[in-house]
Parts: sequence; structure tokens; C-alpha cells
Amino acid sequence: MKKRTLLSMAMVATMALATFTGCGGSREGAASDTAAESTTETEETAATDDSSAVAEFPGFEEGATIGVSLPWLGTQNWKEAEEMFTAQLEEAGYKPIVQAADQKVTQQQQQIESMIENGAKVIVVGPVDGSQLGSVLEQAKEAGVYVIGYDRLLENTTGVDGVVQFGSVKTGELQAQALLQGLEELKGEAPYNIELFGGGPADPNAPNFFKGAMSVLQPKIDDGTLVVVSGQTDFTQCATVDWDNAKAQSRMDSLISGFYSDKEIDGVLSPNDGIARAIITSCENAGQDIPVVSGLDAENESVEWVWSGRQYSTVAKPTQDLVAKTIEIIDSLQAGNGMPSTDVTADNGVIDVLIYELPPVVVTKDNAKEVFANDPSRLELLK
Ligand code: BGC
Repeated sequence: MKKRTLLSMAMVATMALATFTGCGGSREGAASDTAAESTTETEETAATDDSSAVAEFPGFEEGATIGVSLPWLGTQNWKEAEEMFTAQLEEAGYKPIVQAADQKVTQQQQQIESMIENGAKVIVVGPVDGSQLGSVLEQAKEAGVYVIGYDRLLENTTGVDGVVQFGSVKTGELQAQALLQGLEELKGEAPYNIELFGGGPADPNAPNFFKGAMSVLQPKIDDGTLVVVSGQTDFTQCATVDWDNAKAQSRMDSLISGFYSDKEIDGVLSPNDGIARAIITSCENAGQDIPVVSGLDAENESVEWVWSGRQYSTVAKPTQDLVAKTIEIIDSLQAGNGMPSTDVTADNGVIDVLIYELPPVVVTKDNAKEVFANDPSRLELLK
């Protein structure tokens, strides 16, 4: 965890606002004196007095162009983000350019370049590959464009001002806790036979989800409560390239035919809802009883599956909250108030990036009505 006590920075910031050190820096001019719990892959640092880190944040005109570059539209959260950014940026008086990169790094680099050329003042980026946008983002920064990471960390670059996301390690912990709870509830006495799935290895969230989950599961594997029958427990063995549901389904098919011809599979750790449904379908096709399966995103179809008992759990990370937080930051930058204060940062390999972290919430049949009380379209699915 890295919680920055920025008192000294605050003083420097107040005194040094006149010193222009270039916009779009990763450090903020505002200060925070609260210590929030973070689940991001971060660590504690002491107060800093590096006045060189204080940047001025010139505002920009109302009605400015804002770019939003999304990695793909393959899961419901990204489709929601595309729609919400387009509608809400327009409503806030900006000119949005919202594009998705179809999981292709080069396409995303080109889209960001053209957003810079089109005069975007802020570019919001959910990267296809967290570590492959370094130079184009630095180019943006040199052109005076603010860069905000969306949902995923932007790694190995100085070209990022902050990242808005749900706690990714926390997400994995919630998935694993739900898996354990479901096993106890539905599958009798331990030991339980389980398998593990991870997300796309280029997405910085995926190893963090897995890491959070393993912090809960590993002790239970060690004490014999859980048995990973295939023995595949490394992220690299469990990852699903490009978050591709079909690849997950075919890995599950192979695991069942290779290891479960004479066994029941009791549970599966799944990193998101699309992969959860692929895993469940594979088990059903193989004539297995449905295992306890975790998920993520509270996609409509999975909310229905959770409600009918076909998928045990999901994790809600409401897109509307993430988009609202992002637009709040854009408004602050537009008004010349810089990046809002936060006390969480993450080391992106080059710099400490400001993180604006929202809490994910686990959903099972038991609490679904409560979790979606203010989400009429999902509430509608619980019938
Ligand atoms: C997002 C998930 C999504 C996954 C695949 C992750 O970075 O956090 O919400 O399911 O990407 O699109």
C-alpha cells in the first residue's frame, strides 16, 4: 500500500504554484491528509518534499475535445463505458471522441495519436496492454494533454496523470472468498476439487485479480481444504489470452477430459462473468454438476444466472461510478484545479501514479436485491 501523506507537498504546492513545471505531471498539486485503505498493488511511502514534483495544471476551454480510448467492447462494462462517456461528456458540454481498439495495441496507439492531433485536452485510456502505450502517452503529455487511466493501470510510462479504477487485488480477494463460501454452502464437507482461471495477461488487472484470489486460496490449498486437481496454480498456466471466453471454454473442456473423468469438479475461480459462463457451459456439456463459480462485472446474463443459481457469484464494479469519477477529474482539470487529491498511489514501473480507487462489491443470490437497489435495469433481472 502506498498512502502518501502530502502535508509537506501541500505547503510546497501552495508556495510554488507560480512555478510552471509542465502540465500533465503524475504528481498532484492538491494534498490529502486522510489515509484510505487501498487494495491496489501499492506500498507505503513517507511524506515527500520533492518540490520538483509539483506541477501547475493549466485549465482549458469549456467545450474542449476529450478523447476516450477503450481496449475493446467484448464485455458489458466496456460497452457501458462507451455509451456513458459519449452521453455524459456531451451533457457536460465537452466534445467526446470515444473509440475502442478491438484488443489491438497498434490500433489503440493510432487512435490516441489521432486524438492528440484533433486537439483533445484530456485522453482517458483503458489500455489493451498496460505496458505498450508508453511513448504515445508521453507524446500526449508533451503536447499538453492530460492522460487518465481508466479501469486499468498505465504501466512503464511517465505519460499518465492518474488512474481511476476499482481495487483490483480486493476484487480477487472477493472472488476467492465467495468461492470458498459457495463450496461450504453447496458442496458438503472438504476437501473440494477446484480449478483456477485468470484473465488476459496483457491487462494489468488480471495478475492483480489472481494475486488477490490466491492470497485467500493458497492457505486452503496448503492445508488440504482445496485440491487443484490439475496442479495448475501459476498465473501463466491459468491466464486466458485476450479475456477470450472461447479459449477459457476450451481450456475447461481439456481440464475436464484430462483430470475429471472419474471425479466431480466442485468449484472454479473465474476472473469475470464471460469466462464464468464459458466454464459453466463446459461443465454442463461434460455432464458434470454445476460447480461453484465466481465472476466479475455483474453482466446482465450473469446476474440472471446468479439469481437462478447457475453461477454462484459475481462482483459488481458499477461503470456509472467509474465514469462519474473520471468526469469529475476532467471537470477539475478543465477549471484549472488540477488532479483532485487522493492518498493512494501505485508504482507503474517508472513513476508513482495517483490512483482514484472505488470499492468492488461481491454479489450472490443472497444480497443481489440489496446491491442493485439503485440499479433498476439489474433489479429488473431478479425475477
Ligand atoms: C476489467 C473487467 C473486464 C475485463 C475484460 C478488466 O480489465 O476490469 O471488468 O471484465 O477487463 O474486459
